[in-house]
Amino acid sequence: MSSYVLRNVSVLGGAPANLMLRDGLISDLPDISAEYIDATGLVALPGLVDLHTHLREPGREDAETVETGSRSAALGGYTAVCAMANTSPVADTAGVVEQVWRLGREAGLVDVQPIGAVTVGLAGKQLAELGAMATSAANVRIFSDDGFCVADPRLMRRALEYVKAFDGIIAQHAEEPRLTEGAQMHEGEVSTRLGLTGWPAVAEEAIIARDVLLAEHVGSRLHVCHVSTAGSVEVLRQAKARGVRVTAEVTPHHLLLTDDLAASYDPVFKVNPPLRTAGDVAALREALVEGVIDVVATDHAPHAVEDKECEWAYARPGMLGLETALSIVISVLGERWDLIAERMSRTPARIAGLAGHGTDLAVGSPANLTLVDPSARWVVDPAELASRSRNTPYSGTTLPGRIVATFLRGEPTVLDGKAVK
Ligand code: DOR
Ligand code: ZN
Repeated sequence: MSSYVLRNVSVLGGAPANLMLRDGLISDLPDISAEYIDATGLVALPGLVDLHTHLREPGREDAETVETGSRSAALGGYTAVCAMANTSPVADTAGVVEQVWRLGREAGLVDVQPIGAVTVGLAGKQLAELGAMATSAANVRIFSDDGFCVADPRLMRRALEYVKAFDGIIAQHAEEPRLTEGAQMHEGEVSTRLGLTGWPAVAEEAIIARDVLLAEHVGSRLHVCHVSTAGSVEVLRQAKARGVRVTAEVTPHHLLLTDDLAASYDPVFKVNPPLRTAGDVAALREALVEGVIDVVATDHAPHAVEDKECEWAYARPGMLGLETALSIVISVLGERWDLIAERMSRTPARIAGLAGHGTDLAVGSPANLTLVDPSARWVVDPAELASRSRNTPYSGTTLPGRIVATFLRGEPTVLDGKAVK
């Protein structure tokens, strides 16, 4: 194992100091063979943790693989990602989650923690083998049918009851399907003008309201994926005030982009839940700062060209997120490093139960960290992203903050802004 001294690094924006990485840990034991890295002007953050990543393997390796997605994550400053279950075959058995977990280990660029499906085939009819996934080598703790909502309240209740035994979490994609049939974008002024079928805010809010009541009744942990409306924030605020065990995430794109982008008819802006209004964006930002929304999660959703560069109505929903997330969050929150570490590393690591991630950069802690150059500006070029897909909504945009290096257990996965392998 190599040792590194990060010279003059600013931990979370603090005074510059040297940080020693040795034997996978942050250390105070000198090592004469250590390699020095000049980190003057760079900020060290605990390695970012993503609760919501679509890696597409198995099944859509043309859009992303565990390896390309892991590289994308490392370049974005991540040291751990939770891989969503809507693969093909669906990650609804111990076999598939173990396969994803093993592929993550082989890639060795971030820790890949599989999420298991709640229902067989994401079909919403029958509970998947949650226990077998939990006791598998993948040690699954979060279950989600993301892409689809667990709409049947009885099934949702059963799932919450089942995971309570091992303190698992049901992560809900909150979308009442009867209210979003044929929906193409947020239901509002812009959808009316464009003549596109709308996805009303209440379709999300109604499911969150129902689910926090179910979670309260059962006493289980609920996590709400990609919260997108001001009304959802209010439901969460009330539930948290009552002590319901609920956590919530927001994506970088819902913190920045609005529904009027649909007027371009460019499917790169098609996403589920859809981009909402400026009022929703403002409420989401405030909720994130306050902690009503606990974390930023990317919902990194790579799609092949033929699934994205087509007519709006036929395009798949979703956008890339891993390589731009931190820059978007910096542009939204400013250089509030401790808050960023809380929302993008410590809290997601705690929710997912990922020991060794989201820990303070203190002597004895695992050396999972990322170095950011806050003064750098970069122009997003889809062709330069490590993801196998190109569907970033930020093509040609200048963003603040660049990841210079990422370390996983003391070994670099990114150096000089480039993936090490
Ligand atoms: O936009 C989305 N894309 N939302 C989802 O819920 C699923 C995801 C995907 O898998 O592409
Ligand atoms: Zn989703």
